[in-house]
Amino acid sequence: MGFDVWSGGKSEEQYVKKCKESKKYTTGTWYVLESENVLVSSLIVYESQFRIPENFCGIGSVATAILHRNKGHSSHLINGVCENLKRSGYSGVYLHSDIDPEFYKRLGFNPVSTEGTNCMVRLFGSVRVPESEIPSYF
Ligand SMILES: CC(C)(COP(=O)(O)OP(=O)(O)OC[C@H]1O[C@@H](n2cnc3c(N)ncnc32)[C@H](O)[C@@H]1OP(=O)(O)O)[C@@H](O)C(=O)NCCC(=O)NCCS
Repeated sequence: MGFDVWSGGKSEEQYVKKCKESKKYTTGTWYVLESENVLVSSLIVYESQFRIPENFCGIGSVATAILHRNKGHSSHLINGVCENLKRSGYSGVYLHSDIDPEFYKRLGFNPVSTEGTNCMVRLFGSVRVPESEIPSYF
């Protein structure tokens, strides 16, 4: 779904092959959003790696298929996944924003630091940002 920004000049076939062979992509849990029988958005959730603190998760590879963008699908998927994680007892979710962080601020994420990183966190309830190292890029 992020072929237009992440393919790096590869053909669609080569890009999909690379994704399927990615070790990193097998270490997380993928979530997809279906709308009217079409897969429109996806993202991956990681935990226990990339220096993500205990009881937190990390969201990566947020993308919506080009034809279905600007209809609220990514926002809906991110909010749904966060609700699920909150219900499962997690304290919050990290992500690294490759785009204007305003998009994620509207979804309740805040930068973890004022400089040198695009890392953001959304906390569930009255939880504090852990004083651990900032998670590495995922
Ligand atoms: C970013 C992306 C996931 C948004 O998906 P979407 O389903 O269209 O998102 P929503 O409909 O929920 O929200 C649309 C908002 O995203 C904003 N947006 C899209 N691309 C953006 C970008 N590069 N920078 C900042 N905001 C962006 C739109 O401006 C829109 O804002 P608006 O509501 O003020 O008009 C989608 O454009 C995409 O797949 N992009 C390519 C992959 C990518 O860059 N992913 C982000 C990785 S951090």
